[in-house]
Amino acid sequence: GIDTSKLLATTGQVALDIGFVNTASCTSEITYIDGDAGILRYRGYPIDQLAGKASFLEVSYLLIYGELPTADQLAAFDDRIRRHTLLHEDLKGFFNGFPRDAHPMPVLSSAVSALSTFYQDSLDPFDQRQVELSTVRLLAKLPTIAAYAYKKSVGQPMLYPDNSLGLVENFLRMTFGFPAEPYEADPELVKALDMLFVLHADHEQNCSTSTVRLVGSAQANMFASISSGIHALSGPLHGGANSSVLEMLEAIKRDGGDIGHFVDRVKNKEPGVKLMGFGHRVYKNYDPRAALVKATADTVLNKLGGNNELLDLARQLEDIALNDDYFIQRKLYPNVDFYTGLIYRAMGFPTKMFTVLFALGRLPGWIAQWREMIEDPATKIGRPRQVYTGPTERSFVELSQR
Ligand code: ACO
Repeated sequence: GIDTSKLLATTGQVALDIGFVNTASCTSEITYIDGDAGILRYRGYPIDQLAGKASFLEVSYLLIYGELPTADQLAAFDDRIRRHTLLHEDLKGFFNGFPRDAHPMPVLSSAVSALSTFYQDSLDPFDQRQVELSTVRLLAKLPTIAAYAYKKSVGQPMLYPDNSLGLVENFLRMTFGFPAEPYEADPELVKALDMLFVLHADHEQNCSTSTVRLVGSAQANMFASISSGIHALSGPLHGGANSSVLEMLEAIKRDGGDIGHFVDRVKNKEPGVKLMGFGHRVYKNYDPRAALVKATADTVLNKLGGNNELLDLARQLEDIALNDDYFIQRKLYPNVDFYTGLIYRAMGFPTKMFTVLFALGRLPGWIAQWREMIEDPATKIGRPRQVYTGPTERSFVELSQR
C-alpha cells in the first residue's frame, strides 16, 4: 500500500497530493489569502476595510466584476436584482414535495438545481448575456428560495418578495414576517447580517468553490455547478461547521460546562470529538474573519438579548485552546464559524438554517469563480489522476467455480 501520511509522493509522472494540500488547480485574480499572516483580500481590498463599510451587494459586484461599483452602477445592479426575486409559481410547488422536517440545505441545492429547468434561456456558459442573466437570477432568487425552505420547515405560509426592500431586508422579511402583517427588520440586524455575508463572500479554492469550478469545467451550467457547491458546503468539515459549533457548545453546557474535560476529549482524539470552529487548511494564524465576527458577537448579542451563557462558554473555550500546547503546536485558531452561530441564533435563526446563511453569503464568490473559470482560455476539464493500489492483473473465475 501507499503511505498516505506522506501527502506528496511522486510516482512517475503523477503527483499524489491527497486533499490537494499543495496543488493549485487554477490561477485567480479574485481573492488573496496569506494563511500565515492571517490576511484576506477581495480583489486587493483587505477584508477589514470592506466589512462594515461596503454592503454585501457592493462586495458581490466587486467580486464578480473586479472593481467596486460607482453609485450609478450599484443602483443599476440593485434594481436588476430586485426585478428577479420572484420564483416561478411551479418552482414554488417543489417545496411541498419535501418532507416537513427536510433539512433546508438539500432543499436549497435541489431548488437551485431545478432553476436550470425553469430558466432554460440562460444556460449557455459562452453567451455573455445569458451568463449575466444567470448571475442576476441566482443573486436575486437564492434569498427567496432560502426563506421558502425555512417557512416550509416551520409550517408557515410563504411570503412573496417585496421589491421595495433591499436584498438582506427582503430576506429577513420573507423569513420572519407573516402575510398581511407589517414587518420591519431591525436596522442593526440587517447591518450585522449584511456584514456576515460580506465576510463569507469568497475564500478562494475552498471545497465548495473547487466543486463549483470542477463541475463547471465540464461546461455544466451555472445553476448545476452552484447546486453542487451547495452540497459540498453542507458538510460538517466545511460550511456545516457553523451549526456544529453551536451543537458542541450546547452539549458542553448540558454536561455541566466542564470545558477542561471537553478539551481533554478533543486532545485524546476521541472519535468524532473535534473542537468545531477551530482549525483551517490555509490559516495557520487567527482567521481575520473570526476576529471581525468576534467583535460583532458582543454588540449583536447585547442588543438582541442572545444567549450570553453560550458566548461566555465560547470565549472560555477559545482562551483555553489558545494557551494549550496541543492547539499551539498544530496552529489551530478559531475560524469564521466559531462565533457566527451564536449571532445567527440571537437573530432568531434555527440551527438548521446556519449553513444556508453561509450559502447566501458565499454565492457571489461561487459566481465570480465560475465566471473566471469559464472566461479563462487556459481552463481544461478538471480530471485528477490517481495512484492505483488495487490488485494487479488476475484471471476471471466463472461464478460456478467461486
Ligand atoms: N480540533 C481538534 N484537532 C484538530 C482540529 C480541530 N478542530 N483541526 C485539526 N486538528 C488536528 C488534527 O487532528 C491534526 O492533528 P495530528 O497532526 O495530531 O493528526 C492536525 O490538527 C492537523 O489537522 P488536519 O485535519 O490535517 O487539517 P486539515 O487542513 O486537513 O483540516 C479542517 C482543516 C477540516 C478545517 C479541520 O481543522 C477541522 O476539521 N476543523 C473543524 C471543522 C471546522 O471548523 N470546519 C470549518 C472550516 S472553515 C470553513 O469551511 C468556513
